[in-house]
Amino acid sequence: MTQAILTPEAGLEPTTGAQTGGQSKKVFVKTYGCQMNVYDSERMGDALARDGYETVDTVEAADLILINTCHIREKAAEKVYSQLGRLAKLKKQRNADGGDLMVAVAGCVAQAEGKEIIRRAPVVNVVIGPQTYHRLPEALARARQGESVVETEFPTEDKFDGLPNAPEKAIRGRGVAAFLTVQEGCDKFCTFCVVPYTRGAEVSRPVDRIISEAERLASAGVREVTLLGQNVNAWHGKGADDREWGLGELVRRLATIEGIDRIRYTTSHPRDMDDALIDAHRDLPELMPYLHLPVQSGSDRILKAMNRRHTAADYVKLVERIRAARPDIALSGDFIVGFPGETDQDFEDTMQLIREVNYAAAFSFKYSIRPGTPGADMDDQVDEAVKTERLLRLQDLISQQTRAFGRECVGKTVDLLLEKQGRNTDQLIGRSPWLQPVIVDAKLGEIGDIIRVRITQPGTTGLFAELAE
Ligand code: SAH
Ligand code: SF4
Ligand code: F3S
Repeated sequence: MTQAILTPEAGLEPTTGAQTGGQSKKVFVKTYGCQMNVYDSERMGDALARDGYETVDTVEAADLILINTCHIREKAAEKVYSQLGRLAKLKKQRNADGGDLMVAVAGCVAQAEGKEIIRRAPVVNVVIGPQTYHRLPEALARARQGESVVETEFPTEDKFDGLPNAPEKAIRGRGVAAFLTVQEGCDKFCTFCVVPYTRGAEVSRPVDRIISEAERLASAGVREVTLLGQNVNAWHGKGADDREWGLGELVRRLATIEGIDRIRYTTSHPRDMDDALIDAHRDLPELMPYLHLPVQSGSDRILKAMNRRHTAADYVKLVERIRAARPDIALSGDFIVGFPGETDQDFEDTMQLIREVNYAAAFSFKYSIRPGTPGADMDDQVDEAVKTERLLRLQDLISQQTRAFGRECVGKTVDLLLEKQGRNTDQLIGRSPWLQPVIVDAKLGEIGDIIRVRITQPGTTGLFAELAE
């Protein structure tokens, strides 16, 4: 998953739902973390829209601020606290002006910190964990009565059942490529990672819900769906044929939906990459030839200490099988440098694996101690300066590979899904099958079109292309 700090979600239209109290209510949503948080923010926005909230894109215009947080690394949580510090000032000012401001903290920091958030930042009215979002409107109602609400248990009911479907208008506002969560949580317990604690156990959404959501997206003009899950390829469920399906079968079914022309999924775990899914890559033109397959390290010793339960050689073999099935597939990965006990040699093994696999892109991080995870108690924590030096070297190698990949694309003819306007109004930006942003002349089509183009040159933020004959 990408950990890019994401911009606030805009474009949610208020519905004609009941306006509690008659006054207009405005929410500002700020989303950090992975795509799953982006998806969750949209679903919470839908729930709030039904409750009469309009989404605004500045803190100043809002009377409810919802921060959807990420806990994956240290700085993410600290950023939330410093933001809450700024909001406390804003609230004081509002109160002085006779107004009011409500603050809700959702996401993985909410789950991990719970009550501690209200203790450290009393400006917060509601703390709500990722599995309780369906209770958000009710939690806000209680908070309006003066209660500090903390909702962080893992309930047995399905949060998605309690979250309303987005009105078609809202889906349209979000564009032609959409996220669809199919799986959540994690049972793998890598020793560095908080996700099993913040998101809970692995749960798969049922096939019929996924299909109906994909159909609704398609009828609102969405042409590309990215199936989301912390371990998306651990998804399983009973199929329409009464057999147990894995992600491969699910993708095959989704590819038959009229209007869904492109399918992606993220994040997959090497251990859950089964034959049916690899076969889907071989057989389905709708399944895009791009796979995010994190490995974290190229050293078997470190992989073992991380509890990844595969070796570097297992991973390389798996990549070979995937490439045999779909030769044009591009790979991306995640890497952690400076895991406890990582020696120079372990790090060199990671560099070697990167050279061997050759990535189109990758996300890389310095190991960050997460309280409560086994890694936090391990001896031999690596020096910060060593981590920094290793990270720079690794990122340098990856960016060489990314640039080389961009250059190799020049001259290729590809399908481009036009997604949005470019920085210049006479340009449109589309995505290549390999997820690269590609800039074309706006006269070549409209947003939502899939056009055939030839890549002409690599640029700094993407590729350029012209219409292919
Ligand atoms: N489920 C996915 C990853 C989810 S977390 C998988 O298993 O691949 C996204 C990425 O954040 C991880 O792949 C890892 O590279 C990074 N990450 C997780 N915990 C971390 C930590 N404590 N320090 C540094 N990076 C971490
Ligand atoms: Fe974290 Fe590992 Fe689970 Fe991925 S598989 S979410 S890295 S514990
Ligand atoms: Fe962050 Fe939670 Fe996603 S910790 S990466 S928001 S699952």
